[in-house]
Amino acid sequence: MSEQLGIIGYDYVEFYVGSAKMWAYWHAKAMGFNITGYLGPETGVRDRVSYYLTKNNLKFVVTSFINPGNYDVASFVEKHGDGVKRWSLKVKDVKKAFDASLKNGAVPVRNPKKFSDDKGYIEEATIKLYDDAEIVFINRDNYKGIFKPGFGEPRQKIKIESKETGLQEVDHIVGNVRVNEMNLWENYLNKSLNFETFIEFGAGDISTQYSALLSKVVRSKEGAPVKNPINEPYEGLKKSQIEEYIDEYFGSGIQHIALSTKDIISTIANMKDNGVEFLQPPDTYYEMLKTKKIKIKESIDELKKHGILCDDSEGTGYLLQLFTKPIGDRPTFFYEIIQRNDGALGFGQGNFQSLFESIEKDQMLRGNFDREE
Ligand SMILES: [Fe+2]
Repeated sequence: MSEQLGIIGYDYVEFYVGSAKMWAYWHAKAMGFNITGYLGPETGVRDRVSYYLTKNNLKFVVTSFINPGNYDVASFVEKHGDGVKRWSLKVKDVKKAFDASLKNGAVPVRNPKKFSDDKGYIEEATIKLYDDAEIVFINRDNYKGIFKPGFGEPRQKIKIESKETGLQEVDHIVGNVRVNEMNLWENYLNKSLNFETFIEFGAGDISTQYSALLSKVVRSKEGAPVKNPINEPYEGLKKSQIEEYIDEYFGSGIQHIALSTKDIISTIANMKDNGVEFLQPPDTYYEMLKTKKIKIKESIDELKKHGILCDDSEGTGYLLQLFTKPIGDRPTFFYEIIQRNDGALGFGQGNFQSLFESIEKDQMLRGNFDREE
């Protein structure tokens, strides 16, 4: 029996990127984030800059190195490109969560530490995830300042026009791992975080004519809204999108973050107006959807107009979802937008095939579909 960790939910996600200022601007313009805080030379930190971005319950940090001596950020970005360095879990007691996770089998990265200034203190501890990623246990209940000690007010007072995206919170965070790594990380997360596996997609469940993948979804057993799918490539005629990710990211890492909305039609319409590119399902998808006769409030023609996908293949309720194209220069990290209706718990298995066929078209354009033998 694993020890309880006292997990409350996701807290912040931190990206390491080539230019934090540009990433902050893009997230403000395209995704509707507020630039809420800043850390850098002006706040006493000389080797990096971070922007703290918020929207409803979403808390993102984008960080860049500003001199090559910052090995942590520089080496990550050189190898992986822009990507997620760490995601965090809010816990009741950081030391207790960290000690319990270590006892359950977690690999430690940084021991529990208090960071304080005149606005109070926060506590953090870190364990390992995938190749170069991390999971942070955090508690910020005793801090009254902006995000964490070291952060101050944003420096630029610029007005960024953006249509309301209505993005609410992190629904799930997905990892892509190499062949034979999925079970290893499933086991690691289940043991060290007191998680359990609740959905498994095996050979043949998720495949197109050309490529396939395996996937398992783990979630917190403590009732916290934390869900983490893990994908692994599976043998196919061509290179799967998971293999492409592993090749282009130079290793295992975070593939996408799903962000929830209460009104996906206006979210997608406004994000498109803000300049976000989405995958486009084929028209035949909506012919197929009509034959499925899923009981939905939205009109299928309206979903088709915006390219939104609909699925009820996991039982209760139905979900609406859509995936952006990779947001950076490499075909690696992207966002999913998701609306769960009537208690839907799934991840859109019924959509995977048409979705992957649409990704494969982009892979072909990038010359990343045929395997080099
Ligand atoms: Fe997802």
